[in-house]
Amino acid sequence: MHDDPRLATIRAYHQRTKHHLERYAAGPKSLDWEAQPAAFRRWRGTRCHALPRTSPELAIPWSSLDRARPAAPFDVDRLSRMLRLSTAITAWKQYGHARWALRAHPSSGNLHPTETWVLAYRVEGLADGLYHYQNEDHSVEWRAGTLAAADRPGLWLGFTSITWREAWKYGERAFRYCQLDLGHVLAAVAHAAALHGWRPRLLRLEHAELAHCLGTDRADDFAGVESEEAEVIVALHAPEAGPVPMPPLHWDEWSGLPALLDPKPMYRWPVIEEVAAATRGCLPPARGGVSGGERPLPLRATTTANELADPPATRVILQRRSAQAFDGRSVMPGAVFRRILGALLPGGSPVWRLWDVPPRVHPLLMLHRVEALAPGLYVLPRSEDGVSSLGAALRQEFEWVSADDTLPLYRLLAADAQRTARTLSCHQDIAADAAFTLLFAAAFDTPLADNPAAYRHLHWEAGMIGHCATLAAEAAGWRGTGIGCFFDDIDHEILGLADSHYQVIYHYAVGMALEDARITTLPAYG
Ligand SMILES: Cc1cc2nc3c(=O)[nH]c(=O)nc-3n(C[C@H](O)[C@H](O)[C@H](O)COP(=O)(O)O)c2cc1C
Repeated sequence: MHDDPRLATIRAYHQRTKHHLERYAAGPKSLDWEAQPAAFRRWRGTRCHALPRTSPELAIPWSSLDRARPAAPFDVDRLSRMLRLSTAITAWKQYGHARWALRAHPSSGNLHPTETWVLAYRVEGLADGLYHYQNEDHSVEWRAGTLAAADRPGLWLGFTSITWREAWKYGERAFRYCQLDLGHVLAAVAHAAALHGWRPRLLRLEHAELAHCLGTDRADDFAGVESEEAEVIVALHAPEAGPVPMPPLHWDEWSGLPALLDPKPMYRWPVIEEVAAATRGCLPPARGGVSGGERPLPLRATTTANELADPPATRVILQRRSAQAFDGRSVMPGAVFRRILGALLPGGSPVWRLWDVPPRVHPLLMLHRVEALAPGLYVLPRSEDGVSSLGAALRQEFEWVSADDTLPLYRLLAADAQRTARTLSCHQDIAADAAFTLLFAAAFDTPLADNPAAYRHLHWEAGMIGHCATLAAEAAGWRGTGIGCFFDDIDHEILGLADSHYQVIYHYAVGMALEDARITTLPAYG
């Protein structure tokens, strides 16, 4: 297993795409913003089915998001709302002549490499088939019909990445960003599914099957245009019924051709195709399966809902934004802090039912302004094994003082970490002005040796944790921002991570956002 040549490719990719204080990972020397790849991909020469534009709002308070509720039937109205709350546009922003769309999930550079696919079988109001979701005008574009028949209705969402959208701006490091984005998307899907009483389940498909299901293996269709990388399919189902196990595999009557996004690419980053190929593979078995691995920590009660603001969950989802700046002053109340951290732990959010893989990513916190907690470096291991393996991997001088009665939160070091957080996060002020900045440490060597596809899955897990933080913060009137730009090995040096047993793969900042009053907001679908 250890001589698997894919491992060498992945390790080399990870190493060469690290940012260093004196040198950033390879990327374009200049950018022509006028020539940015198209943000939306059209499928030409096929039928387009407009989805209902009724308001996706529901009167379910944030604190009840994860409560059991009867599963909604599969129909086109529910599908429309599910998409509005997960991967649709949520607003247009305008500043001067510039106009850009925001979606229910964040994306590195707002470049949105993830494409959404709908696989529908006996969904009322929609013919059976495979559809591309067209976020731009909230419609679905027909790709193929099905010859298969199942005993009951089925609905699946599939996801692909167009890596060029990210690579255009970020060069070689872009593959990492595509995977982090996908984690945010999966977490958004889990939240939206919970509101419909649906259980989302990840399909464990080999890559060839996955690509076949989503049509990305049809090389002739993609001739001369940017390819799409098949990532994952999520089955939605009523908890008691279990999923229709597989989407139809016998597609018929293919139609439509993908539009070209960038007619004149100025650069090429072949390592992205190499690492994509090396990381194709199945998800690991579900928690409790044969290699159940790390035991999640039982979640202890954190705060009761009535101590905190409790807005409708759909409003939280639709108004989510990344902070572009934090005020650098506000002190986060302890109840808000605990609610956010609680959501990151297995059991603390509907996301951790979708992500049925043992926890392998653990947040470290650079805490600047949180009520009753000394500024400094903290750790929140998300499993019992995480406590011991991080204890062995992190700097041995760290204190490991229990910092909370309800959460597995440990103080490693008391210190003013604002300047360090800024420096580590590519000198970005958001990391210092936040109430706290998170560094996500992923177990690296062991998961990769078990399954090279873990390189993607670890980034998904980090993206999901970030998304949980963002939505829990948003619900309480605070905001989060992903930080994909950080100096990898300086993180490791500070944390005392001497080898690649653990690697930091994402940063996140949470604080009180400052709004830019010059930017106006326009509705998602007018
Ligand atoms: C993986 C990832 C990395 C990001 N990295 C940064 C970053 O380094 N600095 C920053 O200010 N914002 C960063 N962001 C935030 C994006 O810029 C933001 O999501 C995007 O502009 C869309 O805005 P919205 O989240 O408000 O919809 C990142 C977001 C993601 C998902």
